[in-house]
Amino acid sequence: MKIAVLPGDGIGTEIVAEAVKVLQALGLKFEMEHALVGGAAYEAHGHPLPESTLNLAKQADAILFGAVGDWKYDKLERALRPEQAILGLRKNLGLFANFRPAICYEQLVGASSLKPELVSGLDILIIRELTGDIYFGQPRGRRSSPDGSFAGADEAFDTMRYTRPEIERIAHVAFQAARKRGKKLTSVDKANVLETFQFWKDIVIEVHAQYPDVELQHMYVDNAAMQLVKAPKSFDVIVTGNMFGDILSDEASMLTGSIGMLPSASLNSANQGLYEPSHGSAPDIAGKGVANPLATILSAAMMLRFSLNQPEAADRIEAAVKKVLTQGLRTPDIYSEGTTRVGTREMGEAVVKALA
Ligand code: IPM
Ligand code: MG
Repeated sequence: MKIAVLPGDGIGTEIVAEAVKVLQALGLKFEMEHALVGGAAYEAHGHPLPESTLNLAKQADAILFGAVGDWKYDKLERALRPEQAILGLRKNLGLFANFRPAICYEQLVGASSLKPELVSGLDILIIRELTGDIYFGQPRGRRSSPDGSFAGADEAFDTMRYTRPEIERIAHVAFQAARKRGKKLTSVDKANVLETFQFWKDIVIEVHAQYPDVELQHMYVDNAAMQLVKAPKSFDVIVTGNMFGDILSDEASMLTGSIGMLPSASLNSANQGLYEPSHGSAPDIAGKGVANPLATILSAAMMLRFSLNQPEAADRIEAAVKKVLTQGLRTPDIYSEGTTRVGTREMGEAVVKALA
């Protein structure tokens, strides 16, 4: 089992180090190879996703990814910005299916910004299409507008687009996931305004014919954003496009207490996967030893389950995380009165201890 370890920037290095410790403590045989990615790779090799890093990722059975990005790279041309590394990995490896579970652990009910009764017992799964939509649509760019009421003015544009096969395959993934859970799928679109998402909705309805046991509901993205804070437990599985999924998954993370708790898996059709916390590189707290490593540790559990066929090891990690939460250990993002404030390393080490 070969794991490519790509810590990246900011808190990425700190949180990935803890997840690696947890993986090493399982007593399984992994080959782990580290490589630079994002701003760190740009500094060393002049590119956020060097050929060597991409090749390592392609060869590996799974990729453990930290986070990329730092404000100091905001002025670089887009192709050299750290974010291009994660987008490039997703595109090059065909990682089209992004799983972002939002689970509110009982111990963290008080850490959510919503009332306890709204989030207690919450367990939803957002499935975000990850290699299409306005993120990758061509053309995009800047130009001088040739016509219209602002003739001759500069403009910028991106293209929202989805092809039939892209929608079909993510719909199948979502129906199959829903089938294994509460059998309820909400497809989030903006069919009332966007052609792309009327097409999305039409195709999801077609694919539904093959999954009559799953209840399908359609919801406009603005309403979905509202329902997520109004009645989050009314959802089971949500499937949506790349852009809406990016936004809704950040929103959903807050239901669980902190974005520092939200793991993710990005899979291709061969079940090769990239596993990363749903949060970013948080340059404001990088190097301070206060970042929450649990999202990354839980991502490692997803990796064991989805790509490495080690479901028992995944269960062990998840049980260990629950145990440290029950012990009252909290990084600052999930701290509340009466609990014990710990740093990144202490949290990682507590999970390792709880595995035993
Ligand atoms: C995410 C992030 C990325 C995205 C950024 C870092 C490119 O926000 O994984 O949600 O927009 O997909
Ligand atoms: Mg995001």
